[in-house]
Amino acid sequence: MSLDPTAACPLPPGIVAQQPLTALAPMQDVTDLAFMRVLSHYGAPDFFFTEFFRVHAQSRPEKHILRSIDENVTGRPVFAQLIGEDIPHLLRTVRELLQHPVAGIDLNLGCPAPKVYKKNVGGGLLRDPARVDDILAALREAVPGLLTVKMRLGFDDTTPFAAILESIKHHRVDLLSVHGRTVKEMYRSEVHYDFIARAVASAHCPVLANGNITSAAKAREVVQNTGAAGVMIGRHAIRNPWIFSQCRAVFSGHTPAPVTLADVREYVERLYTTTRHPDFPERAHVNKMKKYLNFVGQGVDPEGRFLHDMRRTSTEAELFAACDQHLLSNPDTIFAQEPYPGVIARPNCETPTECTLDEVTA
Ligand SMILES: Cc1cc2nc3c(=O)[nH]c(=O)nc-3n(C[C@H](O)[C@H](O)[C@H](O)COP(=O)(O)O)c2cc1C
Repeated sequence: MSLDPTAACPLPPGIVAQQPLTALAPMQDVTDLAFMRVLSHYGAPDFFFTEFFRVHAQSRPEKHILRSIDENVTGRPVFAQLIGEDIPHLLRTVRELLQHPVAGIDLNLGCPAPKVYKKNVGGGLLRDPARVDDILAALREAVPGLLTVKMRLGFDDTTPFAAILESIKHHRVDLLSVHGRTVKEMYRSEVHYDFIARAVASAHCPVLANGNITSAAKAREVVQNTGAAGVMIGRHAIRNPWIFSQCRAVFSGHTPAPVTLADVREYVERLYTTTRHPDFPERAHVNKMKKYLNFVGQGVDPEGRFLHDMRRTSTEAELFAACDQHLLSNPDTIFAQEPYPGVIARPNCETPTECTLDEVTA
């Protein structure tokens, strides 16, 4: 029997057969081992993606990111994401990562941080489709299993989109995640789901729709309207860690069980305990928690009172007092499935220098 070298590698099966797929979007400083563990408590996505491993002449795979692969206890596959443009160093990193239990290798073609794109990596590569083609050719040679890509629609505009989709097809990429914005559109513009539909129509591989999938209902609508194989969800999984199990319920025609503010209080405590590093001072950990809670607060009350009070805390006791006041005074109140309009996850910055929770907003 001869093996067909052009045959696509099958994706790992989803949690529920025949349903649209779900994935947690890679998020630097968020999607680490601890966060993946917390999320899987409430209902894991089908696939996880690591935050990006930086690739350059001096790089070695970052140890803390490797932990999210080596110590993964979620029972779900983890894809390792790379950001870089130097082919020999990308290949060296791939060889190193393939020594770990990765589900596949993912290339970042979307990071919009100026510090990143000025080095012609991440979203910066979208300015040079020929270079993307060379990189994908080399990665395809080096990755015997699943090779995946996460891309935006273009840099200033969508001009390179068609050429890059052609390369993705030509080099037999196994899964494509499309964030339906250009690099210049950052994180807050409308999402161009029509371009995701175009990717679905032209790609030979499954496509995950990404960008502002705020709820399970929105996930179903976007899958129906684009024909995507599934959804990739980032910020709204921080706000609502139940979102992946809610998607599974909605995809099978059921109404998800309501989440109450008391449930959210329990989530906050789990997040606090699980993400706490033993060497981290209390104040620094409270500040880190406030970054997650910026998103959580979008579903607590329509006036943003929880966000207002939570942002003014600096100790563990103050933080949990604010949580108790807003989450346990009326514990049976329903946690909103969609973020309340106008309740913004600050700090607010339109031109982040890095993809971190400090600088990226909803
Ligand atoms: C804090 C933060 C960090 C991010 N880090 C990464 C990253 O490491 N790699 C990547 O491809 N995208 C990164 N992104 C982009 C997300 O994966 C996703 O494409 C974007 O947030 C849109 O999806 P959403 O509306 O579901 O959040 C990051 C986004 C945020 C908010």
